[in-house]
Amino acid sequence: MKILIVGNMGYVGPVLTKHLRRAHPHATLIGFDAGLFAHCLIGSAPLPEIYLDRQVFGDVRHIDKNLFEGVDAVVNLAAISNDPMGNRFEDATLAINYKAAVELAAVAKRAGVRSYVFASSCSVYGCAEEGAKQESSKVDPLTAYARSKVMAEKELIPMADDRFTVTCLRFATACGMSDRLRLDLVLNDFVAGALSQNKIVVMSDGTPWRPLINVKDMARAIDWAIGRPAEKAGVGLIVNVGSNEWNCQVRDLAHAVAAAIPGVEVSINTNAPPDRRSYRVSYDLYKELAPDFQPLSDLKSTIIEMIEGLKRAGFQNPAYRDSQYMRLNVIGKFREEGLLSDKLELDRSNKKINAV
Ligand SMILES: NC(=O)c1ccc[n+]([C@@H]2O[C@H](COP(=O)([O-])OP(=O)(O)OC[C@H]3O[C@@H](n4cnc5c(N)ncnc54)[C@H](O)[C@@H]3O)[C@@H](O)[C@H]2O)c1
Repeated sequence: MKILIVGNMGYVGPVLTKHLRRAHPHATLIGFDAGLFAHCLIGSAPLPEIYLDRQVFGDVRHIDKNLFEGVDAVVNLAAISNDPMGNRFEDATLAINYKAAVELAAVAKRAGVRSYVFASSCSVYGCAEEGAKQESSKVDPLTAYARSKVMAEKELIPMADDRFTVTCLRFATACGMSDRLRLDLVLNDFVAGALSQNKIVVMSDGTPWRPLINVKDMARAIDWAIGRPAEKAGVGLIVNVGSNEWNCQVRDLAHAVAAAIPGVEVSINTNAPPDRRSYRVSYDLYKELAPDFQPLSDLKSTIIEMIEGLKRAGFQNPAYRDSQYMRLNVIGKFREEGLLSDKLELDRSNKKINAV
């Protein structure tokens, strides 16, 4: 089996790479990434890319079709991957998360790839507090990021046929340790605040619903999607990935972290304007289709994993919200230095190399 992971050098990619290497020791694994966050490593583990057979650098908007030769499955993780970045760089978000995702699938299909896995998001449901949303429920994307995922799904699903399986995994919000950590994710942010400041600062009024999933369980879901039999759910599938038990309100997440670390204060911004991005999601279909790949981590085990992982890495930085573990800070710095265009394309000219 030969698997191409596009966008492998972010937060999810390293965990997926290690999972696939363990689960399929003889597979050929190729990574493709622009390398925007390549330096955002935490801890002293070996570079996660050593578990690949090959790492290629480039922009998904201009990917070389020769890379698909003999490839059985393409996993597309490449994205401008959250709402703050999507709001700031809307055109690039649509170009990368939507247009390039569809073009990537077209090139893969023409090259004979059998399975295309797209990392979508439960944020497509937008404001959905009344009942848990199913895959057939109406979507209500409230941000450029969520819209980009809806637009991609809409064009990807009709591309599926007997020889080309398409699976759009609508993931809950990720959390947990990765070699390339992100602290701009709600639970990770709370654990980092608790450890570095003895304080959890909840920016919203704490009421939004936010289902979560451990990043290790995302990797297991992708593994399932790569090899899923089309007979059971059809050649083109959209499925929510997470667990019904892990539909939580943000304030519950904060209190669960505080309960795990003695002396931590929770500060909730009761004056914050309501955050409409609040959704409860049903994961029944995923349970039915992938009984052997159900999430193994829960809130408590993930909080402990985060505490131990951050302590092991010597993490103590109370100013972590200004650090490289926030995706927007990294992009902002590259923009200031003139390394990234407003389309978020890397300038690889000699002038820029010398400047750095
Ligand atoms: N982390 C979450 O909570 C979450 C939840 C649901 C879905 N997802 C989706 O899962 C995927 C992976 O998420 P992540 O947390 O690892 O994101 P990330 O931002 O950490 O990683 C994304 C990777 O894509 C690469 N990339 C961006 N633009 C590129 C381009 N033009 N060409 C080539 N590579 C490019 C970046 O360099 C980065 O390595 C994304 O599609 C994201 O939307 C993430």
